[in-house]
Amino acid sequence: MAAFDFVPVLERNEVPADMEKRYINLTKKFEAHFGCKPTYLCRAPGRVNLIGEHIDYCGYSVLPMAIQQDIVMAICTNQSQQLHLVNTDPNFKSFSTSITGFVINKEKPEWHNYVLCGLKGIAEFSKLENPVGLNILADGTVPRSAGLSSSSALVCCAGLTMMHANNLKISKLELADICAKCEQYIGTQGGGMDQSICFLAEAGKAKHIEFNPLRSTDIVLPSGVSFVICNSCKEMNKAATSHFNRRVVEDRLACQIMAKNKEFEWRKLRRLGSLQETLGCSFEDMLQLVEDTFKTTPYSKQEICQLLEVTEEELNAESLSDNTLQLQEFKLHDRAKHVFSEASRVLQFKKVCNEAQKDANILLGNLMNESHASCRDLYECSCPELDEVAEACRKAGAFGARLTGAGWGGCAVAIVLTKEVPDFIKSVHSTFYSVNAKREENINDKLFATEPGKGAVIYKV
Ligand code: GLA
Repeated sequence: MAAFDFVPVLERNEVPADMEKRYINLTKKFEAHFGCKPTYLCRAPGRVNLIGEHIDYCGYSVLPMAIQQDIVMAICTNQSQQLHLVNTDPNFKSFSTSITGFVINKEKPEWHNYVLCGLKGIAEFSKLENPVGLNILADGTVPRSAGLSSSSALVCCAGLTMMHANNLKISKLELADICAKCEQYIGTQGGGMDQSICFLAEAGKAKHIEFNPLRSTDIVLPSGVSFVICNSCKEMNKAATSHFNRRVVEDRLACQIMAKNKEFEWRKLRRLGSLQETLGCSFEDMLQLVEDTFKTTPYSKQEICQLLEVTEEELNAESLSDNTLQLQEFKLHDRAKHVFSEASRVLQFKKVCNEAQKDANILLGNLMNESHASCRDLYECSCPELDEVAEACRKAGAFGARLTGAGWGGCAVAIVLTKEVPDFIKSVHSTFYSVNAKREENINDKLFATEPGKGAVIYKV
């Protein structure tokens, strides 16, 4: 991926067949609502992470692929510097504001706040003083609060829109970087996985994504296997709770305490990945260091202050974030153990794919199962429904299954022989979904096979 790679802008006759109907529908709806034709459509896909959960914000690489489900926005500019935002789904309320100087609501983040993040990110990065006004009709097919990155798809689609409307030229890598940073305006301190795959994805390929600096390599998945997504039917909005940021902070504190013990300038080390780099150690060494440093029970805030030799105020300022200031207990051993073992599993997964190893499917399945167990037991980001659906997948013949995305609800992903997908789906349907009428609603949006999809794109109208 070269730094000068840009999001493709396709002509009308290049709109792919599977997009044609949606393109026409959206253009018509846009005209009916705004009284003029849109000038272009932006598309940003959701993603499924195959392995590498909760480690991107620690500086470690991840292995996601884009899915077919996406956010598409139809857009035209207006001369009044207003933003008019409408969604084809009536459950998402329309929203209007001035395109400059709006406020992003972190307390109760409704859908339009993610759009505002993307717009603001691009405006700030490009030092846009007079951004044009925008009329936007948004249409989404990524299930929300399902761990398939519907929020990042919104942020990325809005960022792309803002870039194109203002005739800016920003590379895919820069867009990914800006969108990762600006999604944090909503208050969640995520890493860069979702935004990166959204821009860097290519059809037919999963990607190994590394950070600092951001780069991606193609992963050719074994032939004859498919990935099936199974929604646990438990919704989780990561911005609405402090679970996510609590984990970010626990990892940071684990990093800083180990750094202080090694007599490094611990205030400057905020990511477990940077600590490992500074130490030049293997994953095995890091896992041993975790055992040697931490007790397995939680640490009180006071204990952490003593270990770092700081006051509570200093700790708040140095290491905590807005919605974690109130926390009194931190689990350091288990969180750090998850991060180092999961980061190592990503590299093993990559190796199995690259070397087309014998029994690749079994090896990948085992790594996915281990990842799920680590998320459940050490990182505590699973939930009973996710454990149940992952187990149903294994019983139905998957080589492995794991939660994907932030967790605490949302989807699991299973690796299955392609020729067995229909039987597999039938079996998971009967064990997990048909037992509960609510789970069965819109089953095709909850239980489906997916293929590595393409990245973000702009269609001219
Ligand atoms: C969310 C974040 C990502 C990543 C995952 C967990 O999707 O946006 O950056 O941290 O959770 O792997």
